[in-house]
Amino acid sequence: MFPAARSWCNMFAPSFSSVPGCDVSRNERAQRILDCLHTAVLTCNRDLLVTSANPAGEMLFRLSANHLVDRSLLEVCGNDEESLAPLRKAIDSGHPVTAHGMRLTLSPGTTIDVDYTATPLISWGGEERLLLELVRVDQFLRLAREETLSDTHAAKRAVLRGLAHEIKNPLGGLRGAAQLLDRELPDRSYREYTRIIIHEADRLRKLVDRMMGPFRPMRTAPVNIHQVLEHVCKLVQAENPVGLIVRQDYDPSLPELEGDREQLVQAILNIVRNAVEAMDGDGQICLRTRVKRFMKIGDTSHRRVIRTDIEDDGPGIPNGLREQIFFPMVTGRAQGTGLGLSIAQDIISRHGGLIEVASEPGRTRFSIYLPFTNKVTNA
Ligand SMILES: Nc1ncnc2c1ncn2[C@@H]1O[C@H](COP(=O)(O)OP(=O)(O)OP(=O)(O)O)[C@@H](O)[C@H]1O
Ligand SMILES: [Mg+2]
Repeated sequence: MFPAARSWCNMFAPSFSSVPGCDVSRNERAQRILDCLHTAVLTCNRDLLVTSANPAGEMLFRLSANHLVDRSLLEVCGNDEESLAPLRKAIDSGHPVTAHGMRLTLSPGTTIDVDYTATPLISWGGEERLLLELVRVDQFLRLAREETLSDTHAAKRAVLRGLAHEIKNPLGGLRGAAQLLDRELPDRSYREYTRIIIHEADRLRKLVDRMMGPFRPMRTAPVNIHQVLEHVCKLVQAENPVGLIVRQDYDPSLPELEGDREQLVQAILNIVRNAVEAMDGDGQICLRTRVKRFMKIGDTSHRRVIRTDIEDDGPGIPNGLREQIFFPMVTGRAQGTGLGLSIAQDIISRHGGLIEVASEPGRTRFSIYLPFTNKVTNA
């Protein structure tokens, strides 16, 4: 049990002990509820010194309860006096206050936005306290975006299937006719043209196949994500023998996940190749694995997922492209087909996972979240 979690017992003790028939087990139950909440809950005294934090609070602030308790809220939120004025107002007025979009600076360069409600708990064992419930806003934005993406994704696949069918049928006839013509041509010098038709028809068929993504059913088995990353690493280092530095920062305790190894290699390779291309083969890529706790992907809440980051120090995603890079045929490269990320997203979502991206000049990070076990979809 976290020390701060224990302090919740103390916090509840006066109120429960005043209720006839209330015993310790009731306090324990109350404490367990707070421990299990996904909402970060903190209490502060009148001077805005933190007096307790539940585990979700520890996760939000990325500090253990030991490091939160007795510290000034100003300090842990990295804020100025003015931004905490609503909290003082709640204490002075005795009325709850709700505010949206408060920015917390957790460490230099790491900020998060939260919505919060501050409720004064008057005369708590003679001491006034403030109950703070904080919810990350960007988490909601991500979920909303994810729903939009998955709707768009399904629509995109339906359109592509129809289009692919319409293109591939006449293409087969075209290629067959060119082959016949090639054989029958009396003048061999014209064969150059039939070869071009056949070559271009083949190129178009491959493009359409790639647009459709991997259409073979998933073959799932236990997969070690580090073996997948090492394989990708070898491939890109063979393609770029000089100039490219790949750093590995793995969590060795990660268990295997249930997935299709070949397809995961394909998805991660597409993302790593993009990084290499953005840096012109000359720069540093970091491959990082971690466990992320309590994550909702689509409709499913996971206790733990694997997070794999692919981070490069290249120029960043061009401004006008950021919102569209996962759509097919969107490319910022003269030689690009704009399919790599759309395919990667397809594969990861068929594994029940999610890809996020954060990019600025000098630092682009693609984060892949994969559940350890899931029902893979072949849709
Ligand atoms: N790490 C990155 N840094 C900068 N830009 C990136 C990065 N990853 C992707 N992009 C941008 O996103 C675009 C889309 O990538 P995607 O892999 O879908 O297509 P592509 O690389 O252009 O073509 P293809 O992968 O089909 O050969 C890229 O053209 C590039 O402009
Ligand atoms: Mg690509």
